[in-house]
This record gives sequence, structure tokens and C-alpha cells, in this order.
Amino acid sequence: MKHFLEISRTLPEDLKGILSLASEMKAARKGKPNGAADDKLPLAGLMVALIFEKPSTRTRVSFDVGVRQMGGQTLVLSGTEIHMGRNESVADTARVLSRYVDLIMIRTFDGRLVDELAEHASVPVINGLTDRSHPCQIMADILTFEERRGPIAGRKVVWAGAPSNVCASLVQAAGQFEFEFTYSGPPGMDPDSASCEFARSNGAEIRIERDPDAAVAGADLIMTDTWVSMHEESGERDRRRAALERYRVDARLVSLANPDVLFMHCLPAHREEEVTSEVMDGPHSVVFDEAENRLHAHKAIMRWCLQV
Ligand code: CP
Ligand code: NVA
Repeated sequence: MKHFLEISRTLPEDLKGILSLASEMKAARKGKPNGAADDKLPLAGLMVALIFEKPSTRTRVSFDVGVRQMGGQTLVLSGTEIHMGRNESVADTARVLSRYVDLIMIRTFDGRLVDELAEHASVPVINGLTDRSHPCQIMADILTFEERRGPIAGRKVVWAGAPSNVCASLVQAAGQFEFEFTYSGPPGMDPDSASCEFARSNGAEIRIERDPDAAVAGADLIMTDTWVSMHEESGERDRRRAALERYRVDARLVSLANPDVLFMHCLPAHREEEVTSEVMDGPHSVVFDEAENRLHAHKAIMRWCLQV
């Protein structure tokens, strides 16, 4: 069974194969991501469940549109309208859903729920974000980098700000795609330790540099994310804002990196907080291409899972 659960739990050759398939499918649409079906319909006759226990714009819409473009059908479910994890065990929910649908994508809080769903489902399961990781996002991000700059292997990627779930998947990707990773944030905030261990054990250089100016020197890609994620207390925002102020990605910080550095953000962004509008809308930013690439990456992930 091919589940897509974590960057660290998918073979590098599979990750690269998914990205090639995504590029191929993107090219076949000739610059028109939205709208009508693809020429080939590999998901014809298949039903995909998209379960959301947290809000989503990109993941929700791109998976739904992606399935339809490939000829399949979707069923979008919110956590509150099904029994899973409350009135029925996750394992039983997995067994039941496997009798109705051909693929399950889930966005939830605890990653252990996704693992349990995958363990008991007889159809593939895709992690569409948990408190700890966001592997689908990172596939789109690498696709975006490589289509503009070629292989990411050996390049310098810097994360400035809060070490979020997206950051954890990026660290894992350093171990799979062989790029250098530097985290820059205040003392007491560090990227997920298991992800760092994974990447280092795969030979990746993972650095922590508290000085953001020093961190971005020589950077080929700068990334950030919201300072307060969906699962975190909004009461945290004031404390976080004070601690992270220095790590806002602004035009001055970007000017210290390589001249052709790219800027990415998974979105939603909080303009003037973790990133200024000047950077978001500036010449280095590829955030909307990155958002579009969620669609192409997700389609390839689903085809890989289903082997179609
Ligand atoms: N980047 C991302 O996953 O966006 P959504 O929360 O809108 O899905
Ligand atoms: N770190 C953010 C990512 C949103 C796509 C969150 O979890 O809220």
C-alpha cells in the first residue's frame, strides 16, 4: 500500500518520481492550471475522500480540483460531521471508509491519527497537514524551486521565523534531496528534533544560526511561515511576535542573500508580520506559483499512491 505520510518515510526515488510526474502533467496543461479535465483521466471511476479537521484553502481546493481534472470524484468531509476518533475508533473508521472510497486525504491535529488511519485502511492515505508536518506542501515547494533553478541538491535553503510543521517537512526533505538547511529563529525555538536527526543521519547539513543576517548569506531560497500555526494558541501571538520580530523576512534581509534568491511561503501569510508585502509582492517571491504547484504536486502524489 502506497501511503504518502511523511517526506522522511517516502523513498527519495519515489519523491523524485512524483516531482517528474507533476512537471509532466503541468506541462501537458499548457499553462492553464484551472478549468477543464486533463487529456488522460487516470482517476476515472475512482472516489477520493478529503477530510478536514482544520481550515484550508489551498489543500482543499487543489486536491478537489486535481481529482476532478483526472476524472475522479471527491467527497469533502469536515471532522465534525463524521464519528472518527470520538464516537467510533479511528481503526473502524478506516475500515469502513475503505469500503466506499479509493483514497483518503486527511488534514488533522495529531499525526498519530493519520498513522492509525493508514494502518487500518485498505486504501492509500495522504497526510494533508498535521501539527507536526506538511509533506504535500514541501513537494510543491521543491517543484517550484527546481522548475526555476534546477536541482535543489547542494543549494542553500534558509528558514527564518517560527519552526512550524512546514519547516519540519522541509528539514526532512534536506535529508532526501541533499540540500543544505539553515534555521534562523530565537533561542528556545528550534526545528523538530526528530526531523533534524533524520536529515543529519542521511548526511544533510542542518545548521542553527540565531543571527538572521548571517543565516541568509549565500542563500538560494528563503522560506517562512506564520508565527502562530492553526493548532497553536492565538494568545501566543504577542509573545511570539516579540521573540520573532528580528526574523521577519523584509527586503533588507533578502538583499543579504544570493542575488537570485527565491522567497517562498506556504500561505496563508500574515503580511507585515512574518513577511513584508514588499517581499511577498517583490521580484524574488514565487508564492503564487508555489500555491499553483500544490495542484500539480497533489495530482502526482495521488497517482503515485494509486499507481495509475
Ligand atoms: N499551504 C496550505 O496548506 O494552505 P491551506 O491551509 O489553505 O490548505
Ligand atoms: N504552519 C501553518 C501552515 C498552514 C498551511 C499551520 O499549521 O497553521
